[in-house]
Amino acid sequence: MAERFGIVIFGASGFTGKHAVEEIHRLAKNDKTLTWAIAGRSQSKLEKVIKDLQDKTGDDLTKIKILIADISDADSLKEMTKQATVVVNCCGPYRFYGEALVKACIDTHTNHVDVSGEPAYMEKMQLHYNEAAEKAGVYIISACGFDSIPADLGVIFLQQKFNGQLNSAETYLENSVDPKYYKFGDASIHYGTWESLVYGIAEQKELGPLRKQLYPQKLPQMLPKLKARSIIHKSNIVNKWCLPFPGSDRSVVYRSQRYLHETEEKRPAQMSAYVAFPSLFSLLMVLFVFAIIGVMAQFKFGRKLLLKYPRLFSFGFISHEGPAEELMNNTKFTMLLYGRGWDEKEVDVNGKPTTKSLKVRVSGTNPGYGATVTALIYSGITILKEADKMPGKGGVIAPGAAFAKTTLIENLNKNNLTFEVVD
Ligand SMILES: NC(=O)c1ccc[n+]([C@@H]2O[C@H](COP(=O)([O-])OP(=O)(O)OC[C@H]3O[C@@H](n4cnc5c(N)ncnc54)[C@H](OP(=O)(O)O)[C@@H]3O)[C@@H](O)[C@H]2O)c1
Repeated sequence: MAERFGIVIFGASGFTGKHAVEEIHRLAKNDKTLTWAIAGRSQSKLEKVIKDLQDKTGDDLTKIKILIADISDADSLKEMTKQATVVVNCCGPYRFYGEALVKACIDTHTNHVDVSGEPAYMEKMQLHYNEAAEKAGVYIISACGFDSIPADLGVIFLQQKFNGQLNSAETYLENSVDPKYYKFGDASIHYGTWESLVYGIAEQKELGPLRKQLYPQKLPQMLPKLKARSIIHKSNIVNKWCLPFPGSDRSVVYRSQRYLHETEEKRPAQMSAYVAFPSLFSLLMVLFVFAIIGVMAQFKFGRKLLLKYPRLFSFGFISHEGPAEELMNNTKFTMLLYGRGWDEKEVDVNGKPTTKSLKVRVSGTNPGYGATVTALIYSGITILKEADKMPGKGGVIAPGAAFAKTTLIENLNKNNLTFEVVD
């Protein structure tokens, strides 16, 4: 059998895919052992991806192989996945396109990472494919982008640095844009994420029954219980107005913490996620827009309108063209993780008042398409090079649990996605 490529980027012609290709090219220039190819359904679009990157970098990429595979053709997917050790999947919404590729990867003994931020999709894959992935000896790891590497590995980092027993973590996300590069109405996110978000809101109701099947047994209660803060609150931790963060971070962190509890008997940390705003006015604006989107996304006709007029309903935030490079490169994010727990490592701390706190921070640039693809490609590389430090022999696992003992955090730190202790 011909040797497999280390990494194949599937969906390379998409907005995220193109950035992933640029990132792997950057990294492979300094690592001659890293072999890679790109894949998707359109030869001409994929050729253009290579040509554009050649024009941008001046590097010769004519030897990069293009593999053709379509989600609707299972044989073409297997033909592609059997040529890869790790498939990096940039083809979403994952609820529509993800499962066929997960199946192909398991059938051909290929590892898989993606940037899904869709909890129902990820939990469904864990429910239906964890055993098969374990048997095949492959890792299927979703949420390897901005959703949810900062939060999930951030909690792992907090646990590693805590020097004791962590009871809970609260995450506070802040985004900032250099005003020189942004005016109201400029797009900040590509349509692909909007599509995933709209369908993601609609599928919220699937989560309850799904979780009952995935986790029939409740976790033992961890005390003191982490209390949810009020929906709108001024946080004394970041000194800003905050809302609960509606993304996939809580679901992903829960899966990691539960996995580590079940496989290594570690005390699971409770977690809440918030997003912080520069002013109460901006918070109220965002809440208003989200309320409209949230209601519309429940109905077929509402979804149709949201998807047809993304700019209108997002006040220009979303576009089919995606954000400008300059804007992305001048957008920064910070996630502060505030942990509370005890000095002692003994397990009989349950129920006692916590005695210790620690803050760590994860920060980076261009959360949607810069930090995201760095985390994604490094997740793939980590499977290639450090599978011996990963748990079990495979499975559908969240990234925090999968990469906790690898050097992923260290490598991200060297590549502008910084994990650091604040105090
Ligand atoms: N979690 C995060 O932090 C994060 C960040 C960024 C993006 N994302 C997620 O990434 C996903 C992609 O977003 P995007 O903006 O990059 O979307 P996009 O530009 O629309 O890209 C979609 C890709 O899927 C491909 N595709 C669609 N149908 C296909 C099929 N039947 N067979 C093969 N390929 C097919 C497209 O190929 P063609 O070009 O041939 O149409 C394209 O390459 C979304 O789910 C988004 O939410 C997540």
